Amino acid sequence: MGFLLRGFAAVSLAWLAIIQGLFIGVGGAGFNYKDALTKSIIFLEAQRSGKLPPNGRLPWRGDSGMDDGKLAGVDLVGGYYDAGDNVKYGLPMAFTVTTLSWAAIFYNNEIRAAGEMDNVLSAIKWGTDYFLKATLKKNDLYVQVGDPVQDHACWVRPENMKTPRTVLKIDESHPGSEIAAETSAAMAASSIVFRGYNSTYSRRLLNKAKLLFVFAKSHKGTYDGECPFYCSFSGYNDELLWAATWLYKASKKSEYLKYLREEAISAAVNEFSWDLKYAGAQIILSEFFFQGDKSFETFKKHADSYICSVLPDSPYSQISLTPGGMIHMRDGANTQYVTGAAMLFDVYGDLLARFNQKVDCGGKQFDSTSLLAFGKKQMDYILGSNPEGRSYMVGFGINPPKQAHHRGASVPVLPPDEVVSCAMSFVNWFTKNVPNANELTGAILGGPDRYDKFTDKRWTSSMTEPCTYINSLAVGPLAKLASHKA
Ligand SMILES: *[C@@H]1O[C@H](CO)[C@@H](O)[C@H](O)[C@H]1NC(C)=O
Repeated sequence: MGFLLRGFAAVSLAWLAIIQGLFIGVGGAGFNYKDALTKSIIFLEAQRSGKLPPNGRLPWRGDSGMDDGKLAGVDLVGGYYDAGDNVKYGLPMAFTVTTLSWAAIFYNNEIRAAGEMDNVLSAIKWGTDYFLKATLKKNDLYVQVGDPVQDHACWVRPENMKTPRTVLKIDESHPGSEIAAETSAAMAASSIVFRGYNSTYSRRLLNKAKLLFVFAKSHKGTYDGECPFYCSFSGYNDELLWAATWLYKASKKSEYLKYLREEAISAAVNEFSWDLKYAGAQIILSEFFFQGDKSFETFKKHADSYICSVLPDSPYSQISLTPGGMIHMRDGANTQYVTGAAMLFDVYGDLLARFNQKVDCGGKQFDSTSLLAFGKKQMDYILGSNPEGRSYMVGFGINPPKQAHHRGASVPVLPPDEVVSCAMSFVNWFTKNVPNANELTGAILGGPDRYDKFTDKRWTSSMTEPCTYINSLAVGPLAKLASHKA
């Protein structure tokens, strides 16, 4: 009896897989992109630090980091935790805000049509309010709160953490051009977003962006204070180009045009990530090229080169795809390269269509349609069109992950004054092979390995850890897909 039942179940599952394959694997039309979009933004709420507003959508989240900044005599309450830990890192936080702002600008109509603009604005403002606190003094930028070593030695939710909230900053004698320039980019990009909503706030952001850019380029240096977690391997030239691009887009001032034409360094790359931003800047500047600014031709060539080095059918294709077709750059938060490519392919694809252009890769032409199809394929893989037949977004689609590597989601809600033993925390909540206590709704996890294989365990962190910038890069592509104009 038991045997027969199991046999029957196996057959049914096989049929189910075939039916799912027909409806989802092939067409991809089975996904509720609007739901995925909504959830992708909810995840950013889960990453909020500080005093939470009463209208939060995650009942298991509470106030945390309420003394952040105190060790340095400043107020640094607020901002975002980057991933599954409780540290606030400046570089990825700023990149998250820049890329989310980019989505809000470029896919403004699509986000509004989905009814998500208020949530996106509030997600951006959660970052920019924090950056305004972190930049109160000229040429001083607070770039980190929390001690990564002690934080990582404790599996505690931020609401109950007692680990030291060490404060790091950059200034004229401890420069950090990557972080200063990325924060400048975040402030400039968000100033465009807020222009139509609050011009006072928008102007404040733009003024800070300008000051941070001057600081970044007049006190050049790489900051190693966020190493080994957010160590910039690519140097700061990409962030300087990125910041100048956003400042020019936000202000149209000739000083940024001059910088872009005469000083900025550009390079052909095949990746867009928290560390490497050239391709994003090149694609944004290509729009000015298409509009007639021929001095930006090199940027446009580099943008084409990015596309040609990523597209699988291009003769110059350089990057590796899993057998199931997902971009795989390296293990650990790999889906950032997937959502990053989707964002760039979508934006460039839409620009090619708007200006009636094509990309030439060694004599082979690619038009808007091929770029948008590739962007959609990358997003569909994450949502469920993949060899494992499962979703990599928590709380969305078929068989989504249950064990995100995330302190707040895996530890049950405790009384605010509960003292947690760091030693016992791993035994109690990390190594137990059970689903997380709280659903980390909308988090896109690091994702499968290069063979499309995924292990849904809290301790396989390279696969199960979420990051704010994986999601911020997904918002534009999901909004586009939700608008049915893909
Ligand atoms: C606009 O921004 C300013 C500066 O941050 C703030 O004081 C003001 O309350 C905001 N106005 C509205 C209508 O939100």
